[in-house]
Amino acid sequence: MKTNKKMLVLAGDGIGPEVMGQVRRVVDWFDRRRAVKFDIQESLVGGASYDKHGTPLTDKTLADALSADAVLFGAVGGPQYDALPFDKRPERAILALRKEMGLFANLRPAMVFDALVDASSLKPEVVRGLNIMILRELTGGVYFGEPRGMEKLPDGQRRAVDTQVYTTGEIQRIARVAFELAKKRGNKVCSVEKSNVMWTGQLWRDEVTKLHGAEFPKVELSHMYADNCAMQLVRNPKQFDVIVTDNLFGDLLSDCAAMLTGSLGMLPSASLGAVDQQGRRRALYEPVHGSAPDIVGKNMANPIAELLSFAMLLRYSFDLQDDARLIENAVEKVLASGMRTADIMSPGAAKVSTVVMGDAILRELDKQAA
Ligand code: IPM
Ligand code: MG
Repeated sequence: MKTNKKMLVLAGDGIGPEVMGQVRRVVDWFDRRRAVKFDIQESLVGGASYDKHGTPLTDKTLADALSADAVLFGAVGGPQYDALPFDKRPERAILALRKEMGLFANLRPAMVFDALVDASSLKPEVVRGLNIMILRELTGGVYFGEPRGMEKLPDGQRRAVDTQVYTTGEIQRIARVAFELAKKRGNKVCSVEKSNVMWTGQLWRDEVTKLHGAEFPKVELSHMYADNCAMQLVRNPKQFDVIVTDNLFGDLLSDCAAMLTGSLGMLPSASLGAVDQQGRRRALYEPVHGSAPDIVGKNMANPIAELLSFAMLLRYSFDLQDDARLIENAVEKVLASGMRTADIMSPGAAKVSTVVMGDAILRELDKQAA
């Protein structure tokens, strides 16, 4: 029997709609060919929502996101919105969704596909076989801490404040996700902060250490300062398995880790909430790349990050491991065949458009499911 999953699709701005277009074809393929069945709802978000409704996230869209089984997100932002007041900016939409949906755990895997080893700016031996997971705390820290804002001082200067703040509970719940993830992977967690200069860093280290001793003594735990971690990621990234860190450090380190794989166009992410009493958890899936205004409308964006985000959706929201693997295998095969979008192009490969990459992946899915 087929079970209908409620999926809210928010393609957003820039290349979001282009890459989502290809993913929608794959979703339709799953609808036709596999047991899973989706009820899909689509809404505007970010700049596209601002243009139509005067706000980057309407109450209706937020309510739909809260009641969906999973949200598949594209990207938001663009230069035409840069002059908007802070609360109207496209980025507010994704930040509000994360906060309101309680998506505190952001999984950002960085994997190097064999076929793409040469697309990395690092030496092949440094990145070959790389498979690390950056776990970023997503609803706390300096992104949301109060007080925040800007004021004018009597002497005419302006003063701006952001607040980095974490509670023990916030640290424990993200650390718990890190240890659970590690148990299913390489069994290693590296906790990253700046406990040498920050109180929140000190608390972070204390709480991770305590939880480790109490609940996960068999997982190997290490600690690292965030600046050192940035360096180690480009020096010897394969030393890591799961990296757990706060919202801001996670933002920086995940971009850095993404580039090890050759292109931001390859990297998916999952943002998960807590599991409720019915065993359900809110979740949003989005590529790590942004709206890429420079290549919008040129049919050259790489749809793979969005597609792998859909694979994560199948895996983490619906426990459809085989279906997720189908997509991942199809991507791997297509890359191995030498097809490349511009961002991952290498000498001797065949440069293809967004749509042709989509065609190739669908053909490969057909083959795999035959
Ligand atoms: C990310 C992005 C966002 C962030 C922006 C778009 C608000 O950089 O998801 O990494 O800073 O979290
Ligand atoms: Mg970022």
